[in-house]
Amino acid sequence: MKSILENRPALAAEVGKVAEVAGYLWQKGWAERNGGNITINITELVDEGMKALTPITEPRPICLHLPNIKDCWFYCKGTNRRMRDLAREPMANGSIIRILPDCESYVIVADADIAPTSELPSHLAMHNYLLGKGSPYRACVHTHPIELVALTHNDQWLQKDYATKVLWSMIPETKAFCPRGVGIVPYMLPGSKELAQATIDAVDSDYDVVLWEKHGVFAVDVDVMSAFDQIDVLNKSALIYIAAKNLGFIADGMTEAQMQELSEVFHLPK
Ligand code: 13P
Ligand code: ZN
Repeated sequence: MKSILENRPALAAEVGKVAEVAGYLWQKGWAERNGGNITINITELVDEGMKALTPITEPRPICLHLPNIKDCWFYCKGTNRRMRDLAREPMANGSIIRILPDCESYVIVADADIAPTSELPSHLAMHNYLLGKGSPYRACVHTHPIELVALTHNDQWLQKDYATKVLWSMIPETKAFCPRGVGIVPYMLPGSKELAQATIDAVDSDYDVVLWEKHGVFAVDVDVMSAFDQIDVLNKSALIYIAAKNLGFIADGMTEAQMQELSEVFHLPK
């Protein structure tokens, strides 16, 4: 079967980046079974040939009204599909969808009828929010990083900006490459509209990365690689904190003065 990626190098490159990140998620142990999901907004890469394609499914409801993503196109990981399989075969474990003019339903356009992730409400509502804000962000990554999820099993780590402050202080890179810190969303049912709205509210209060209590992480950025990098630096900090604890002490963390100097020199938000 001919893939939509054939003779479309820019589109193939973006989907290739999703496959590369999917491989990293599996290697890190963050993607058990079908755990995690990725969507990217590919609308800017759509050509006339793609627009002329006949959808391969009937319209399916999103169960949300999302006016800013009218006629937009997305690559979505398939529900129940494994990241480790997607890494090898992105178009056999995900699909390309188009949002219909009613802003409430979508069709699958290519390559096969692979139903999108069960977290589609969170992903599409987020893309809708990002476009509405004029954001350049085109990627959403949800994954289950072991150490970051472990932190969410304790009330202190769920207090506003406690995790941000401790994780930033573990190693200078974390604030430099995750400069907005990490927001917190209390436990909500996976795949629910409530989880989608709470995630948007957290991103709206100026975070790129949100911890979902006892579940995982949801990150947004310009592309899938950058969204992955933000999660990766945060989880590295969590690992350093835990490594120190395993050595029998609580990590001191960088001092306030060191954090302030870092923020000034690298022009980071306070
Ligand atoms: P999907 O397989 O439907 O993408 O679900 C995985 C997941 O992590 C749900 O939160
Ligand atoms: Zn999940």
